[in-house]
Amino acid sequence: MSPTFSMPSLSGTSLAELQRRHIHDLQKAYEEVMTVFSVEAIAIYSGHAMPYFGDDQTPAFQTYAHFLHWAPLPEVQHSWLLIRKGARPVLFLYAPEDYWHLPAQLPEEAWIDEFDVRPCSETTPPPLCKHTAIIGDVDALAATGSLVGVIQPEALLRALDELRMYKSDYEVACLREANRYAIAGHQAALTAFQGASSELDIQLAYLAASRQRESLVPYQNIVGLNQHAGVLHYQHYDIDAPRHRYSLLVDAGHRYRGYCADLTRTHAGSDAPSPFAELIQAVTAIKDSIIDAIAPGVSFLELHEQMHHHLAEALITHDLFHGSAEQAIAAGVTRAFCPHGLGHSLGLQVHDVAGKRQPDGSPSPAPDLHPALRLTRTLRPHMVVTVEPGCYFIPMLLDPLRTQPLPINWTLVDQLSVCGGIRVEDNVLVTADKHQNLTPSF
Ligand code: GLY
Ligand code: MN
Ligand code: MN
Repeated sequence: MSPTFSMPSLSGTSLAELQRRHIHDLQKAYEEVMTVFSVEAIAIYSGHAMPYFGDDQTPAFQTYAHFLHWAPLPEVQHSWLLIRKGARPVLFLYAPEDYWHLPAQLPEEAWIDEFDVRPCSETTPPPLCKHTAIIGDVDALAATGSLVGVIQPEALLRALDELRMYKSDYEVACLREANRYAIAGHQAALTAFQGASSELDIQLAYLAASRQRESLVPYQNIVGLNQHAGVLHYQHYDIDAPRHRYSLLVDAGHRYRGYCADLTRTHAGSDAPSPFAELIQAVTAIKDSIIDAIAPGVSFLELHEQMHHHLAEALITHDLFHGSAEQAIAAGVTRAFCPHGLGHSLGLQVHDVAGKRQPDGSPSPAPDLHPALRLTRTLRPHMVVTVEPGCYFIPMLLDPLRTQPLPINWTLVDQLSVCGGIRVEDNVLVTADKHQNLTPSF
């Protein structure tokens, strides 16, 4: 089933109007950054694809996210945005005549009117004054000596990253729409799983229903059957369906105007040992209870620690651990069952920028006990985060616990290990007083 492809709006305001306000607010915010850092302009490079060594083929390309923050053109290359005080942003769009490829084209959308568009056919940067901050991966260009500005001033880049932490109403509408497409994919993936498909078939069903080609997904879809569900970033798609259907984990998203959905669902198959479906429900309940606690002023690290507490209780309730929740946490049992963080900031990148920074740009690293946590911040209105608790049966992490005198029900662990693991993931907006779940219930 395909989603209905209407343009989203917020309380009757069109997406075009939300985007116009987004661009105007961004102009104001950039002007403040220019004042603080004493620069006259900020030039943002789109990036360009680099060929494989010795080849004329390139990997799939995604435009640099600071460029997308202004202009939803996820496939343009060799292009520039020039932002100056009191002037319309200039879009230098690289669109040479070409009969091998379709030249870059602008959509017929209202946001174009906010820009001074200058098509160009050379890959050289536009003329810049020397008080320009240059943002982008421009090493190859800088080597030619053609750039005169200050490349990637660290503190200024951190300030621009910080702007991206807080999503405008336009960005939230895009994230919501990306979620809608992704859910259509997840529903099709479940149907394909019930039809005994292979990982590749499930992936193709996901892409078809969510209306996207593989090169445009925000991250490589994770489609793991059985023990592959316990490989956190499983990267293959087996062509043949396995004989037994224990489990399916799908972690897959969608990009809408550059903005990423990042959703995970886990399903029990017809051959799953009976406690597995209940354990999926328990992890889903952990997700819901953490989401319930999301509000401005809440520390994400504390939510992550709460996840470990809930997980300890679930291990006890489901007969996997016969001690106390405190013991399970102190002995590292919950960390062996769930080695990743509770979630991360979400936006133009799936693991969005500034998650491990203070608002002033200084580092705020993950604590030693939870090194994989990607977001250490206090939640504020307009942040968008993922909430993705998990419970996995990963031999590499669990085996070292077997030699310790811990009350783990190894018989049940061994029985469930054919299922690989469970992750359930939603995308959540922090509002002025609490939160909104951007992921439709499924
Ligand atoms: N899809 C990667 C993640 O959930 O962080
Ligand atoms: Mn994910
Ligand atoms: Mn995620």
